[in-house]
Amino acid sequence: MYLKKIMAATLAATALAGQAQEKPFNIIPEPVEITVTGQGEFQIQRNTMIRVSEPALASSAMYLADYMDRYLGIPLQTEIPKTGKSRRKGNPAVEAITLKPGEPACIVLINRKNGEVSGGYQLEIIPAEGIRIEGNDEAGVFYGVQTLIQLLPTRAGVLPILPAVKVNDYPRFAYRGMHLDVVRHFFPVSFIKKYIDYLALHKLNYFHWHLTDDQAWRVEMKCHPELTEKGSVREGEILGLYPGKYQPLPYGGYYTHEDVREIVRYAAERHITVIPEIDIPGHCMAVLATYPQFSTTPDEPKKAALTWGIFNKFSNVLAPKPEVFDFLKDVFSELCDLFPGQYIHVGGDECAKRWWQESEETQQFMREHELKDEKALQSYFIHYVQEVVNAKGKTLIGWDEILEGGISEDCIVMNWRRPEFGKKAVRTNHRTIFTCSAWSYFNLKESRIQSEIGPRGPLSLEKVYEFQIVPDSLTTEQQELVWGAQGCLWTEYIPTTWKAEFAIFPRMSALAENVWSPLEKKDWINFTRKVEMQFERYELWGARYSEAFFRTQDIERKR
Ligand code: ACM
Repeated sequence: MYLKKIMAATLAATALAGQAQEKPFNIIPEPVEITVTGQGEFQIQRNTMIRVSEPALASSAMYLADYMDRYLGIPLQTEIPKTGKSRRKGNPAVEAITLKPGEPACIVLINRKNGEVSGGYQLEIIPAEGIRIEGNDEAGVFYGVQTLIQLLPTRAGVLPILPAVKVNDYPRFAYRGMHLDVVRHFFPVSFIKKYIDYLALHKLNYFHWHLTDDQAWRVEMKCHPELTEKGSVREGEILGLYPGKYQPLPYGGYYTHEDVREIVRYAAERHITVIPEIDIPGHCMAVLATYPQFSTTPDEPKKAALTWGIFNKFSNVLAPKPEVFDFLKDVFSELCDLFPGQYIHVGGDECAKRWWQESEETQQFMREHELKDEKALQSYFIHYVQEVVNAKGKTLIGWDEILEGGISEDCIVMNWRRPEFGKKAVRTNHRTIFTCSAWSYFNLKESRIQSEIGPRGPLSLEKVYEFQIVPDSLTTEQQELVWGAQGCLWTEYIPTTWKAEFAIFPRMSALAENVWSPLEKKDWINFTRKVEMQFERYELWGARYSEAFFRTQDIERKR
């Protein structure tokens, strides 16, 4: 089977070689259009200059210069204009950086601000002249730079020789995300930045940061400092697969406001928006460990969870009490002020409603507010937070359970369960992100015999690649509401950065192609060919990755 696959990949490469392209390219995600324009080549020299049309493109120029220096050992100079007044086509400042034969070769980055698809760009490699990247907007320029990076060698020590090509490209979906759970295991700021770089290198543009859950609260709240003083630490850890072996060592960590600002800034320079998630009204054991009075069982002892799952045995839901709603108002207001992005995630998943059913006080609240069941109460919580978030001019996102009991149309639904829930979201007029667990949870092991990242799975590379983001049987109007897709990384069994990388690679590369490239450009066999070079890139970046796809034994057992 493995040999058959490689032969098929080679045949595909040969077939490609016979078409317009002289040799197959290895760009992930596959661009909309790539044309070989001539016979020549352009070689980047040590004195090749990176020039930009306006100061706002400095971060794209610096990104490219940093990549060239760090990974290929070629330190290029950048030339950034001091004022950003001259921006339009035909404008002297733009013309001044147009490539001209005879001048020293350079790489120019231009923002056309042409109002076309955000993230779209054209890249042209012109022999003897240089490289020209024109974006529809700043993000487009940045993605053009990412495509150029994909044309570079995967080893240091050579001056890159690039073929004369023209790339015309733009994303299929506006939302292209990756999630990271930093609760079950904590990751330092340095790794969060690395993770954001991995997103950038794949043209992904949203980082969904899962900051609170039963096991911890991991973001500083000036309005409630106890949340991190107490709630960021659990008293021990379970090592190994559930039920595991108890390790009585406190485990903690959290991000300060300063950390958050640094990460948000770092992400913004890479055209990535950070979406923070505070998960309520369930998954709240860490909140209740800090404020037991917020629970339906305030007199019972509480602590942050030591292990994983949905806690029917331990109280983990917020009770509908005035002090809880005040708390939610404080916390979500501060979150809105701390994160400049448009979107705030409220969680809303897996709320263990038995705690509300068994609480006379809660039932009384429901009668007073004419809430017919616990789903309606869940919806009451979500509505409450939505009003807080909306008052700050922001938009609420929640896991697909927020549909239960009804939500207003301007809430965005993140579909993590079966696609039926995503379809329901779309049919009830909600913008929807598809991250269905069976196709998009990279904490699932990649092959049956893989044991490094936990018991669940398998979720093969091919299955991620083939995930149908737009479900069948939606009208054209409904299809417009499919905002995009996301990969998730839950970290119950991922305590280290190397396991995190091992879990996301190469599957994140498959997700990136699925969510960026037009359907007609999606080609699994071609992807299997390109992924070989992608493995070389992971090596270049110093990233760990799973080789399950290339292990014959794994493949055989998968079938
Ligand atoms: C989830 O996996 N509970 C969103």
